[in-house]
Amino acid sequence: MEWWQTGIVYQVYPRSFQDSDGDGTGDLPGILARLDHLVRLGVDAVWISPIYPSPMTDFGYDVADYCGIDPLFGTLADFDALVTRAHALNLRVILDLVPNHSSDQHPWFADSRARRNGRADWYIWRDGASGGGPPNNWLSNFGGPAWSWKAGRNQYYYHSFLPTQPDLNWRNPDVVAAMHEVMRFWLRRGVDGFRVDVMWMLIKDARFRDNPPNPSWHPGLSSHDRLLPLYTADRPEVHEVVAGMRAVMDEFPHRVLIGELYLPIEHLVTYYGQHGNGAQLPFNFQLLLLQTWSAEAIAAIITQYEAALPPGAWPNWVLGNHDRPRIASRVGPAQARVAAVLLLTLRGTPTIYMGEELGMTDTPIPPAAVRDPAELREPGKGLGRDPERTPFPWMVGPGRGFTTGTPWLPFGADTPLETQHQDPGSMLELYRRLIALRRANPALAVGMIAAVQAVGQVLSYERSSDGVRFRIVLNLSGRAMDASGSGTVVAGTHAGREGTSLHGNWVLQPNEGLVLLQAPQ
Ligand code: GLC
Repeated sequence: MEWWQTGIVYQVYPRSFQDSDGDGTGDLPGILARLDHLVRLGVDAVWISPIYPSPMTDFGYDVADYCGIDPLFGTLADFDALVTRAHALNLRVILDLVPNHSSDQHPWFADSRARRNGRADWYIWRDGASGGGPPNNWLSNFGGPAWSWKAGRNQYYYHSFLPTQPDLNWRNPDVVAAMHEVMRFWLRRGVDGFRVDVMWMLIKDARFRDNPPNPSWHPGLSSHDRLLPLYTADRPEVHEVVAGMRAVMDEFPHRVLIGELYLPIEHLVTYYGQHGNGAQLPFNFQLLLLQTWSAEAIAAIITQYEAALPPGAWPNWVLGNHDRPRIASRVGPAQARVAAVLLLTLRGTPTIYMGEELGMTDTPIPPAAVRDPAELREPGKGLGRDPERTPFPWMVGPGRGFTTGTPWLPFGADTPLETQHQDPGSMLELYRRLIALRRANPALAVGMIAAVQAVGQVLSYERSSDGVRFRIVLNLSGRAMDASGSGTVVAGTHAGREGTSLHGNWVLQPNEGLVLLQAPQ
């Protein structure tokens, strides 16, 4: 088994993890200084959101140089030091790769605009429609048209996101080769994998057909959702692009290719590729997208996902990331503890978003403090991502141990790590116990999953390997629920349960989750 199958991934949003120089924004020396937190938590890999030189119009997801480090975050030497230290601590380092679009400040875009250095066709340029206006009806994910006019070149260019984020043309073999070289640059530096940004958007329709209207759009949704992204995302040719990236990864031993993919299960699993030549971990966001947090809905997702996995495919699960409301805000603090038991006992690699282990919640951002372009371009719709990106509270005090300066986003009201560290009932200690249990037991880390069922609001399933069998029993509601089964409680959300034995029928407390070790049969 590979490390990315047995292990746990931890996502760091670098602006908000640890500031080392007092400018209010986190950086690479800050991450290095805090690696001990990851070791004590017990995770295996750290995925760092983009740290490349960037004008920061989308906070690093607008890359101006794929092979450098933004001075805000440090230097290449800082990066090398981080990788060296992480590896010495047995932690892997995963970088964010943003191949769909660059910054409009990238020299490639300047060349393309000026049709020079053979890069005329590196981005997606089109003439306007015959009657004037953009070439077709495609919309930006951040509101407004996805086409912007460029004087001089006198054509429109396509941008899935901001006008400052032009999409690269992945139908051009020179672009493919250049991005493969970027991957090799970091892989040679010791990077253990990539999380590929918007993997499902990499190829657009060759005929530039209009997207059809979305019959279920309503004004509460983003303006992008007015159309179904039929011709701008999840195109059949994307799998060739992913297979090409995977081939580059396979030039190096033990690396992992992760894909960001907001897709329903049947489409998601196609990104494992033909005979496994795609992403090793196409991110499974089903728990993050779930509308109703109920035993029945989660049981259905687990069953459907497990059934849809192609032969040899390894599952994975995610509760949150830097783009979506935090789990503790979506389901409440008590259910966030149940969610932790779920994430860390399901079959498949868990990814923890920094702060989930503290039970961090979304922080309301006053309009004057908003930084996220998604909110600034379509205010008031709840599309903004600043609330889940606020700095990590390490300790009590004005700068929370995060910064000696003014934080780039305000701190929330969350209980700092230092305080939780001393409290056996804290979320942090629950995460530590669950992770330690998972690490110590192959049945939980890599064993089979069976008997997935929902009875009322009780979700249960079994994990087993080599005759060792766990039963996980989760109360998805705030009411006490009848449950049954026997075993010893080896981890749980509620104080006083661990170490006790349960037999026959018993009661699961409101918002309680238990891991039972069953006697050998
Ligand atoms: C991905 C990133 C998000 C970014 C977008 C455009 O969805 O996770 O933060 O804004 O891509 O790069």
